[in-house]
Amino acid sequence: MREDGEIAKPAILFLCLGNICRSPLAEGAARAAFARAGIDAKLDSAGTGDWHVGHAPDRRAQAEARRRGIDIPALRARQLSPDDFYDFDLILAADETNLRDARAIRPAGATADLMLMLDLLPGRKGQGVTDPYYGKDDGFASTWDDVEAIASALVAEFSAKG
Ligand code: 4NP
Repeated sequence: MREDGEIAKPAILFLCLGNICRSPLAEGAARAAFARAGIDAKLDSAGTGDWHVGHAPDRRAQAEARRRGIDIPALRARQLSPDDFYDFDLILAADETNLRDARAIRPAGATADLMLMLDLLPGRKGQGVTDPYYGKDDGFASTWDDVEAIASALVAEFSAKG
C-alpha cells in the first residue's frame, strides 16, 4: 500500500538472451501465478540479444508451457531497452551474462532493481536458470520448474507487501 492509499501495481520484467525460451516461460508462469493470486501486475519479458525480435517462443518452450496448462504462443520477443529501467520496478535476469549485459545499458538514473531470477529462491542465490536452447527437449521441464518456483516467490513477496 502506498501513502496515497493506492496499492502499488508490481511491474516486473523477465530477461534472458533470446527472449524465446527462459524469459517467456518465466512471464507465462508469473502471469498465471499473479492471476491465480488475484494480484494485478505488469509483467513482460525481453532479451538482451536481437536475433529473435518479433518471434514467438521456441516451439519446445511453447510445448512445455502447454503441458503445464499455460499458453504462451502469442508472446513475441523483443530486445531490452534503456526505457525498461524506468518502466519496471524489477528486472530479473536468467543468468550472470544477462545481468552483465543489462548493467551495460542501464541508465545512470535507473529506478528498476536488477537481480538474478534465482536470487529469489532460498539456497539458489547467485545461480543461473540453465539455458535449454541448445540442449535436449527435457531441459525445458527443469526450466519450467525453476520459473514456476520463481513466480511463486514473487507472488508471495507481493502478497506480503499488499
Ligand atoms: P533464451 O535462449 O535466452 O532462454 O531465450 C536462447 C535462445 C536463442 C539463442 C540462445 C539462447 N540463440 O543463440 O539464438
